[in-house]
Amino acid sequence: MFNDRSDYKQQVIEFFDRRTAYDREGNSHPREAKRLLEYVPIESGQAILDLATGTGLLAIPAAQKVAPDGSVIGVDISSGMLAQARKKIKAEGINNLELIEADVESVELAAEQFDIIFCCSALVYISDLSKILDKCYHWLKIGGCFAFTTPDKTSNLAEIRIKVCRDLFDIDLPHIIRPLWTPQKCRTMLVQSGFRDVEIESHLYNKSKIDENYGSARIEQEFYPRGNPLSNLSEAEKDLLQAEYQKAVEQLIAEKGIWQESINLYIKAFK
Ligand SMILES: C[S@@+](CC[C@H](N)C(=O)[O-])C[C@H]1O[C@@H](n2cnc3c(N)ncnc32)[C@H](O)[C@@H]1O
Repeated sequence: MFNDRSDYKQQVIEFFDRRTAYDREGNSHPREAKRLLEYVPIESGQAILDLATGTGLLAIPAAQKVAPDGSVIGVDISSGMLAQARKKIKAEGINNLELIEADVESVELAAEQFDIIFCCSALVYISDLSKILDKCYHWLKIGGCFAFTTPDKTSNLAEIRIKVCRDLFDIDLPHIIRPLWTPQKCRTMLVQSGFRDVEIESHLYNKSKIDENYGSARIEQEFYPRGNPLSNLSEAEKDLLQAEYQKAVEQLIAEKGIWQESINLYIKAFK
């Protein structure tokens, strides 16, 4: 029924490998990484893990903060994103940041070795969220902190997509942001994995023109880390879905205007 999981991972790798100037795609990525880094107090000498580190927007300043005795490990599945990180690490002369090219869902790391684990703007791509949260708990030292960002419910026109799928085909769309899109959902999952003292803040991520971003993107071609039920639709059904979606987006623009604000949740929790 669903896409093969390895197809999904390949789709993620190709999508990020293509983004060869990631740091210059506007200022929202650097701003988000900076804010997440500031959200957690870091001390010199600490051991940090940055899951899905990308171009090192968070890992590089984190490595500078924990130097000279502390260190950072950054893991990412995209060689293209890591190549951009490597260039910056070399240019900045950083020697306490190790990059590992791997899927964070299968990477092997020792228990209780990190003071802080970050995952900025990437947890949504993970297929098995409970498992990765359990692993983060396992990798953290007692008292360690796990901190991540994730889009809230109002982002990416997710609710409109879910509604048109339900109205047209009675499909309950497993939208990529859904499992963590409210503070309550984040808190519940973290507590289930053993975390305590969960803190959550909301911040504006981005203000962008609806039609330039999500307004015309094909729903069935989006990322579905837990399987894509739309892949079973016929081409005619997919076109119908897209047409209904575009109608709903046009109605939204008529009612609320062209600008869409995306809100991000900033979460930290302790072991
Ligand atoms: C939006 S970027 C964020 C990068 C970086 N954390 C930042 O804040 O700039 C998402 C990153 O997640 C990575 N990614 C997605 N799924 C992954 C996985 N299963 N394992 C490792 N990295 C993954 C992508 O390659 C990409 O670099």
